[in-house]
Amino acid sequence: MPSVTRWPAAGIELAYRCTADVLLHPDGSPRLRQLLERNARVGALRPARMEQRARAQLLRAKLSTALTEQVRERRSDSRHTAEAEPRDLLDAVIGVCPDEVTDPTVAQLYVLMFRSIVGPLGYSLAWSVLLGSLQSSGSPWSWPVDWVVREALRHRPVSWMVSRPVPFPTELGGIAFQTGDLLSVSPYLLHHDEQHWTRPAAFQPDRWAQPSAHRPYVPFSFGPFTCAGAAVAHELVTEAATTLTGNTYLRVVGGGDTRPIVTNAATPRPFTLHHTPTKTLTALDGAAGRR
Ligand code: HEM
Repeated sequence: MPSVTRWPAAGIELAYRCTADVLLHPDGSPRLRQLLERNARVGALRPARMEQRARAQLLRAKLSTALTEQVRERRSDSRHTAEAEPRDLLDAVIGVCPDEVTDPTVAQLYVLMFRSIVGPLGYSLAWSVLLGSLQSSGSPWSWPVDWVVREALRHRPVSWMVSRPVPFPTELGGIAFQTGDLLSVSPYLLHHDEQHWTRPAAFQPDRWAQPSAHRPYVPFSFGPFTCAGAAVAHELVTEAATTLTGNTYLRVVGGGDTRPIVTNAATPRPFTLHHTPTKTLTALDGAAGRR
């Protein structure tokens, strides 16, 4: 990582780099890999100007065309049978789609999965880095990284709301629901419920010294629709944060406002991260002491 990085875009870039080979096998089309990387980058930005939005739209169209082409090729290649071990996410998506699902639809499903993997990973990493570093004000983190990641997923769950149409008439908590009503549950609100959490508005990694003491904790949803990648995701974010914070002092500039930007995900506001290797600081301190 360079010594100064801009977030949350850097989080998305890291998440993409960590998962690139399982998202699209390295032998896959280089052009498609390039388009995926550019889409991941552009997806992390919020194009403000009309011209930037138009460029992002164009990029999405190019990705869709290249992916549809790749789906067509793989489906017509006899080596890509449903029984073969998938080499990447695209093989897995093709494998579960019956023949009658059109190539463009398979491509769209892949893009949906791609975004649902890279986005939450990158933003969860960004929240962990931001909240852990703000709380440590330039010193190394004083808690295990795992606690910081758990607490960031509680304090600022990227998937702040999950919704489902009700499949049949039912009653929940004294409220009647009809078939097709949209029932939403907010992990964000559940994680800030004062009846269940002590000082929920505070970012306190040490509350995770006893992980099982906390409920309801649903950053990856719950029940039959629980995130299929929850364990992998937690490990990836923790490992990435461990690597970033190892032997490094992190200083956040411009991240004081930790209210999320809430769209379909709850993302951090832009901030800059300054990384200083601990060795550099120790050497500077030593030189100052000798003077
Ligand atoms: C920190 C990162 C992640 C977060 C916060 C997250 C969160 C979630 C949430 C809340 C859902 C349920 C959505 C709903 O019910 O509407 C979900 C579903 C899902 N996630 Fe994740 N996710 C993350 C990373 C991943 C990764 C890395 C993978 C793949 C390896 C993945 C694969 C899936 C899949 C396949 C589903 C759909 C499950 C189903 O409907 O049966 N996620 N995720």
